[in-house]
Amino acid sequence: MPGNTGKNDPAIGIRAMTMGDLDAIVALEKAVFSDPWPRDAFSDILSGEGWSALVAECDTGIIAYACCMTLDEGARLANIAVAESYRRKSVAKRLLARILDDAKKAECEYILLEVRPGNTEAITFYERHGFRHMYRRPHYYHSPTEDALVMVRYLSEDDENE
Ligand SMILES: CC(C)(COP(=O)(O)OP(=O)(O)OC[C@H]1O[C@@H](n2cnc3c(N)ncnc32)[C@H](O)[C@@H]1OP(=O)(O)O)[C@@H](O)C(=O)NCCC(=O)NCCS
Repeated sequence: MPGNTGKNDPAIGIRAMTMGDLDAIVALEKAVFSDPWPRDAFSDILSGEGWSALVAECDTGIIAYACCMTLDEGARLANIAVAESYRRKSVAKRLLARILDDAKKAECEYILLEVRPGNTEAITFYERHGFRHMYRRPHYYHSPTEDALVMVRYLSEDDENE
């Protein structure tokens, strides 16, 4: 039943994003963001190198996705979104865990991201998962124009704590 998922519900699966997912991804992107990425941005990711692009799905279809670019020494979480009715069920937590695993396998030392300073849900989520505030990138976002808050998590600190 839609929305009938508890925390860590095993009915939610995580897998690699494919071209066949793009209709659902683009619809979710439009529903979630005021400045949604166009379809081409996702197809470029899927045909490009160095990306970790994941979806979360349940019996109703795709409910979340995340895209992370791996550069030489660092990774950049470019996008993560969960459909509104599936939030606070650890879906983003599970996606982020897979993204972090992939970044560690690629021997990245850190993972960076940008977030709107007013996006308190996302900032709280990232802080909860070990990201720290670094600096502001002026006028980074459009619709509406806004600075980005840049946050980082150092993956080497995970090894020290293991
Ligand atoms: C941010 C977002 C991805 C979080 O997804 P989610 O699946 O709801 O997050 P999770 O359930 O995995 O949350 C894990 C923990 O993060 C924190 N958290 C997540 N959302 C929160 C919120 N709205 N308020 C406070 N804490 C929150 C909590 O500590 C939570 O654990 P808990 O539920 O046991 O308290 C989701 O709110 C979303 O899609 N937002 C819109 C898109 C967006 O802003 N993306 C980020 C762009 S930079």
